[in-house]
Amino acid sequence: METLKGMERTHSCGELRKSDEGKTVQLAGWVSRRRDHGGLIFVDMRDRSGIVQIVFDAAEIGEEFSKAETLRNEFVIGIRGKVRARSADTVNPKMATGEIEIVVSELRILNKAKTPPFYIQDGVDVDENVRLRYRYLDLRRPEMQQNIMLRHRVTKIMRDYLDEHGFLEIETPMLCRSTPEGARDFLVPSRLNPGEFYALPQSPQIFKQLLMVSGFEKYFQIVRCFRDEDLRADRQPEFTQLDIETSFLNQDNILTLMEGLIKKIFESTLNVKIETPFLRMSWDDAMNRFGSDKPDLRFGMELQDISEYVKGSDFKVFNSVLEKGGQVKVINVEGYADIPRRELDGLVEYVKTYGAKGLAWIQYAADGIKSPFKKFYSDETFEQIKKATGAKTGDLLLVVGDKPSVVAQALGELRLEMARRRNLIDADKLCFLWVVDFPMFEYVEEDKRWKAMHHPFTAPREDDVEFLLTAPEKVKADAYDIVLNGVEVGGGSLRIYQRDLQEKVFEAIGLTHDEAHAKFGFLMDAFEYGPPPHGGIAFGLDRLVMLMAKRKSIRDVIAFPKTQSAIDPMSHAPSEVDDKQLRELYIRSTAKKSAN
Ligand code: AMO
Ligand code: AMP
Repeated sequence: METLKGMERTHSCGELRKSDEGKTVQLAGWVSRRRDHGGLIFVDMRDRSGIVQIVFDAAEIGEEFSKAETLRNEFVIGIRGKVRARSADTVNPKMATGEIEIVVSELRILNKAKTPPFYIQDGVDVDENVRLRYRYLDLRRPEMQQNIMLRHRVTKIMRDYLDEHGFLEIETPMLCRSTPEGARDFLVPSRLNPGEFYALPQSPQIFKQLLMVSGFEKYFQIVRCFRDEDLRADRQPEFTQLDIETSFLNQDNILTLMEGLIKKIFESTLNVKIETPFLRMSWDDAMNRFGSDKPDLRFGMELQDISEYVKGSDFKVFNSVLEKGGQVKVINVEGYADIPRRELDGLVEYVKTYGAKGLAWIQYAADGIKSPFKKFYSDETFEQIKKATGAKTGDLLLVVGDKPSVVAQALGELRLEMARRRNLIDADKLCFLWVVDFPMFEYVEEDKRWKAMHHPFTAPREDDVEFLLTAPEKVKADAYDIVLNGVEVGGGSLRIYQRDLQEKVFEAIGLTHDEAHAKFGFLMDAFEYGPPPHGGIAFGLDRLVMLMAKRKSIRDVIAFPKTQSAIDPMSHAPSEVDDKQLRELYIRSTAKKSAN
């Protein structure tokens, strides 16, 4: 095998332009594609900066030409050659380097390669499992390289911005105490403490609050978090947060600082201007108008309440809903009164998966109104509904009646689904908003208890503190989420910093004094030594970069992600371990050994 000795690179492949014409250059990279034209061989040569066309001309380089004939895709090569302008008819306007090519005078083959399991190019249509199994090759594809480079630039700007604003990057432990609020923990057995376990952090929440007690005032960390949850396109068992905590700032101060950060990230990487301040919407409004606490504001189709028009009729479905304190709401799918019956039937099944018992509709068609509840209401009522919802002839109203949480869930999802089907989403739009004034608690039906909606360290709104134990459903929190195009990219809150208030919140979520102390005693102790008012936020870095790169899955912006079943098909993690390892850890598995 040859080496680059004496022929070290002078340039990278993607940087050469017409202004480099005539220069002798030395390049190193991979063979992306080879085309033979008799005495001429063209090779697209790739490194991380891009692709350039190199040319081997039999008439000019003699022996090197037969070497060039042995080149295959993904061979690693070094070349020396001269930059030549392409003739007008061979210029490739799609390539950054498309105005030039390199006429090779020397070729070195630095390494060979087997035929890869898929083409190393953008937009390959291969099963994701195969991509993950050969992730090192998948990551060689230009679009994946762009994603990873974008991610680097984003974290670089985060660090720069936060440093400029007086933040300190401080590391917190990965081996922590298990604190069961929230998702399931990943556990690590302790060899030195038989029978005891560490938990990997779901977030550095408690530690960052303790850093505020210590007086660091402004902390950040780009930090791995671990949650043993069911996975989805925007969820990984390990993911990265930009974690932030501040002292002495109010909510407005924090949101403004974060808007500045987002603005800087987008402007300096994607070169798009972001208008600040972002829209701020209460949680109640978001749920009422969009049926979601992370509304996608790139399109309208808001939920509208028609309860007052449909009440007191002979239509049992709506009557029973309204009598039980429920509501009847609609979305207007504009211009779709001629929806096929088959699609409507499909939509009924669709909303059922989100807990609705059924779906009704009003088609304001040119040849009259069609609706499953037409016979129960007068023409006048249908006109009133039309007017109140702003519907026009030709529009389709989709109707769900149920308790408010089910209406929100079903119509919120239906709104997204119809927008996708009707192509209403402008993929180039960036709609940021803050959702604020979250409820402090949510009721968990299966455990029959209240749970903190964000986390139990979040401060209840001052005016609502009196209801903590008597009417938890009334209590709003100083909590906020940042939403981009319908994705929750971050969330945070002002924190409780008085010990007695913290105890009261633990009590409200059903933790006894002793349980609270067993789990969070160190935090409670710290709260006796002058904790400052503090608050913070954490961004989901993977989700943010996913949206910036216009990808559908966070797996595309993580170098080595796991599959939906939390497996790495390349290294085969997780795996069984030796009995000896288990014995050292005082562990015995109760799982049945797999057949192989
Ligand atoms: P939270 O639990 O809302 O807050 O997490 C913050 C952000 O992290 C991202 N995120 C995830 N990304 C990928 N995969 C996951 N499994 C996953 N889970 C969460 C989301 C989310 O908005 N300690 C608090 C923050 C605080 O109060 O300061 C926390 O962790 O984008
Ligand atoms: P039913 O009386 O169940 O046959 O329903 C009569 C019509 O009302 C059908 O078109 C149903 O799809 C619709 N419907 C049933 N339940 C609901 C609901 N919760 N919200 C809206 N429409 C419903």
